[in-house]
Amino acid sequence: MVKVPRHEASTGPVRWHGRRSEAAAWPPALLTVAFGLFLGLAAWRGADVAVTRLEQEAFCLSCHEPNVASGEQARLAHLSNRPGLRVQCPDCHVGSTWTDRLRFVAAHAHDIGGFLAHLDDTAERQDAHRLDVASRVWTQLEADGSAPCRRCHDPAAMDRRRFSAEATREMRNPAEPGRSCITCHKGVLHPVPIVTAGWFAGSLTTLARASHPAAGSRVMAVTTRRLFLQREAAEAGQRQGSVVPGASLEVLEVAGSWLRIRLAGWQQEGAARAIYGAMGQRMLAAALAPAALEAVSPGPDVTDPATGQVWRPVTLTGWIESDGLVTSPDAVWSVMGLTYAALCASCHALPRPSVHTPNQWIGTMSAKRKLLPLDDDGNRLLLHFLQMQSGTRAHDDPPPPG
Ligand code: HEC
Ligand code: HEC
Ligand code: HEC
Ligand code: HEC
Ligand code: HEC
Repeated sequence: MVKVPRHEASTGPVRWHGRRSEAAAWPPALLTVAFGLFLGLAAWRGADVAVTRLEQEAFCLSCHEPNVASGEQARLAHLSNRPGLRVQCPDCHVGSTWTDRLRFVAAHAHDIGGFLAHLDDTAERQDAHRLDVASRVWTQLEADGSAPCRRCHDPAAMDRRRFSAEATREMRNPAEPGRSCITCHKGVLHPVPIVTAGWFAGSLTTLARASHPAAGSRVMAVTTRRLFLQREAAEAGQRQGSVVPGASLEVLEVAGSWLRIRLAGWQQEGAARAIYGAMGQRMLAAALAPAALEAVSPGPDVTDPATGQVWRPVTLTGWIESDGLVTSPDAVWSVMGLTYAALCASCHALPRPSVHTPNQWIGTMSAKRKLLPLDDDGNRLLLHFLQMQSGTRAHDDPPPPG
């Protein structure tokens, strides 16, 4: 076939000729542009499909079980309510902006890896894993100020005339900084994850094993420790008291598996066998046998202005075994924070520790004891955690978490 000179075959303007001949000379460039365009379109369409999927519950359910007990469907306000609004997975989990969606996708890639790593866990470890995963969701929602919840729930639009007395007290300012909806409302769709006695004891044992108390350091007891006044009594097993979970101790000397410790606290007049963490607050730190009372060094008496009772600051030195102690109280507080969130938000909104004084918490927690899966040491540590956060704290104890 004869090659027709371009200018002869063309009917268009001259400038067009020029362009055409150039284009013919650079087909790869055109191809690249076309291919780029195609890729762009494909990516656009792909993103569109992906976004649509991220907004569809069916997509989530292709991997996830609904995780709502079927008998509960009707009871759950998010699935069945007067206006007939059914909340879907992406409403609470994905978010509406591009940043939210990218963050969801990035976090998910990691989740799937995590899931594979836990495939052959025992039932107990799977429960513990669910607690971990749920706590990541809580942390994320806290960090966002519960933004997904507030897209539907606007505190300004709440009809407060219909609040219960408790909701009125607790929700004076539901958008209060540092306390978002999720701080108090957990398990709004799924059952709150289970804390088992095994998970609880295992978490604290791991912390205690990783702790190596040295002279001059502070430690916190996480289980009840036997207390001895002299080393000989310790070796003979003649216990002269107990240090209870939550007590904060100063390590004076390390001798093999024994520690010489100093305990500072308060005694109330007429009840010398108990040493408490703060004046006027029954936050038990140690209980002493009658024979141990003479070893206590008392300071001057103080009258508690709130109650008129007489208290005195005391110190006591003695020996304890070096296990069951943790050198980083913050790590204990984070286990306790998770335990509290999961155990105490399953029947009602999570109460603020400040709803009660340290002394009032003693009664409330002893009434709850049979509802909780913890042993005596666990109950005592949870009580101590609530007392510490309730507003009146001992000076030398660590600050409570966030
Ligand atoms: C391809 C399967 C798959 C799809 C589709 C999927 N997920 Fe997941 N998702 C997983 C796996 C696996 C995990 C990890 C679970 C675990 O570790 O127990 C996970 C974890 C989660 C978590 C826990 C988050 C965290 O911070 O660890 C949430 C919430 C979640 N998915 C919500 C969703 C929602 C909402 C959708 C729909 C938009 C969705 N998933 C779609 C597989 C999937
Ligand atoms: C009303 C808000 C809301 C809706 C709707 C919702 N979730 Fe959740 N989801 C949460 C919260 C809050 C948590 C953290 C644990 C808790 O408090 O129950 C959570 C936790 C999770 C977890 C972590 C493991 C666990 O069981 O706690 C997964 C996985 C998950 N959701 C998937 C889904 C899927 C799939 C759907 C749709 C069937 C869905 N969620 C619907 C609020 C919601
Ligand atoms: C898509 C909208 C939507 C989202 C997102 C949403 N909710 Fe709701 N929520 C509702 C509706 C609708 C009701 C039912 C109201 C009724 O019963 O009149 C409800 C009820 C509630 C209730 C009272 C009943 C109960 O289950 O205790 C609480 C508490 C609550 N939501 C908290 C939350 C929290 C916390 C989040 C975020 C994790 C959230 N909601 C996310 C729409 C939503
Ligand atoms: C300081 C804790 C606290 C915070 C923060 C909080 N709430 Fe509440 N809320 C409560 C308590 C307590 C109740 C009473 C009902 C209960 O015990 O479950 C309640 C009740 C409710 C109810 C009514 C339930 C009913 O039908 O009786 C809704 C809805 C609700 N909260 C949503 C929210 C939303 C949305 C946010 C965030 C903007 C929020 N709450 C923040 C503690 C809190
Ligand atoms: C098995 C369900 C259940 C669990 C788990 C639960 N509670 Fe309660 N709680 C209730 C009920 C029911 C009431 C209301 C009846 C009452 O006053 O005894 C209540 C009332 C309360 C009150 C107000 C009345 C009072 O005695 O001060 C506080 C505070 C409280 N709970 C704190 C907690 C704490 C902290 C935990 C976790 C250690 C917890 N709850 C775990 C069911 C539960």
